[in-house]
Amino acid sequence: MTNRSDDQWNRPLRDLRISVIDRCNFRCRYCMPEEIFGHDYPFLPKERILTFEEITRLSRIFVSLGVTKLRITGGEPLLRKDLSSLIHSLTQLEGVEDIAMTTNGVFLPKYAAALREAGLARVTVSLDSLDDERFRRMNGGKSSVKAVLDGIDAAAQAGMQVKINMVVQKGFNDQDIVPMADYFQKKKHILRFVEFMDVGNTNGWKLDQVVSKQQILHTIHEHMPLEPVPPQYTGEVATRYRYRDREGEIGIISSVTDAFCSTCTRARISAEGSLYTCLFASQGYELRTMLRSEQSDDEIRAYVERVWRGRTDRYSEERLTHTQRTLSKIEMSHIGG
Ligand code: GTP
Ligand code: 5AD
Ligand code: SF4
Ligand code: SF4
Repeated sequence: MTNRSDDQWNRPLRDLRISVIDRCNFRCRYCMPEEIFGHDYPFLPKERILTFEEITRLSRIFVSLGVTKLRITGGEPLLRKDLSSLIHSLTQLEGVEDIAMTTNGVFLPKYAAALREAGLARVTVSLDSLDDERFRRMNGGKSSVKAVLDGIDAAAQAGMQVKINMVVQKGFNDQDIVPMADYFQKKKHILRFVEFMDVGNTNGWKLDQVVSKQQILHTIHEHMPLEPVPPQYTGEVATRYRYRDREGEIGIISSVTDAFCSTCTRARISAEGSLYTCLFASQGYELRTMLRSEQSDDEIRAYVERVWRGRTDRYSEERLTHTQRTLSKIEMSHIGG
């Protein structure tokens, strides 16, 4: 059934991904390659980044439009001081059913307990390999495997549900698919394999570096047989599979070879307060000026609703037939994935 607030493809607004900072202490080659994101990269100055009060206000407006899921992203969100207090404010919003965060994990030993206390029930930690050399090669030499594993353990010990994201890039970490599956099956954390995506303009994406969902499935299935699991809800990003002969499940996020735009209910806000209706958008809708003017919540709400209703994005479904490449896309570190 079509709702008057749905977008042009009848997709409701359900999830809000909020980037709280565009900086990161890692330099993953598929996200913030060191050559581009060097010392002189123009990161956002503090005054252009939304305050926690502004983020909470915006979230309340989005919740009134149907959002029930919030995800905090970055850059690296834990570089933002006192993030727990934002989490606490967001948990107080009526209508929010789920709050999660995507992080590189290395600050979790320091903050996991406070985050849990503030109401954060789950985190997703990115980890691309269990081999120190390969992991360092992927993260720009910024972290050991152990530092991330310690973060994962800290989050689990604090009582949070932990998922792991592994971006698979051919020639870099495809040999780690089975060891990662095996390790996290034993650890009882859900591992999701993410197809390398052409986000932004700087990661040198090539189709031949993508390891497809089918290849990933085949590789794991040969060692540990899998069977599909139905989605938990419409629009779930990862396709789920469980092990046939042992406990546990995995997910595969196949934006390249099996796109999921038809059920995409996600809006994104960059750290500087622009609304993006697609991960691959080239243009955002500036909300910060509205937030810092005399505009009322109702006026901002009406604007967001108008933007969402006009939404036609389905980049991933069109990707392989694009004749013209999008000239300029928002960078992953600005929009948080
Ligand atoms: P769950 O709520 O646990 O299912 O999390 P999630 O998978 O929605 O969030 P997460 O931040 O862990 O994202 C996993 C991967 O999926 C990242 O690489 C994201 O960039 C990618 N992703 C998330 N949403 C979308 C989307 O709408 N489109 C595309 N193309 N990729 C997405
Ligand atoms: N392709 C796929 N996933 C990516 N991520 C960052 N850049 C890319 C990319 N080019 C992942 C991170 C993190 C999540 C937010 O997005 O590893 O887990
Ligand atoms: Fe940082 Fe995550 Fe990007 Fe890696 S993928 S550079 S950890 S924001
Ligand atoms: Fe949604 Fe854009 Fe991702 Fe498609 S490519 S699922 S429209 S964010």
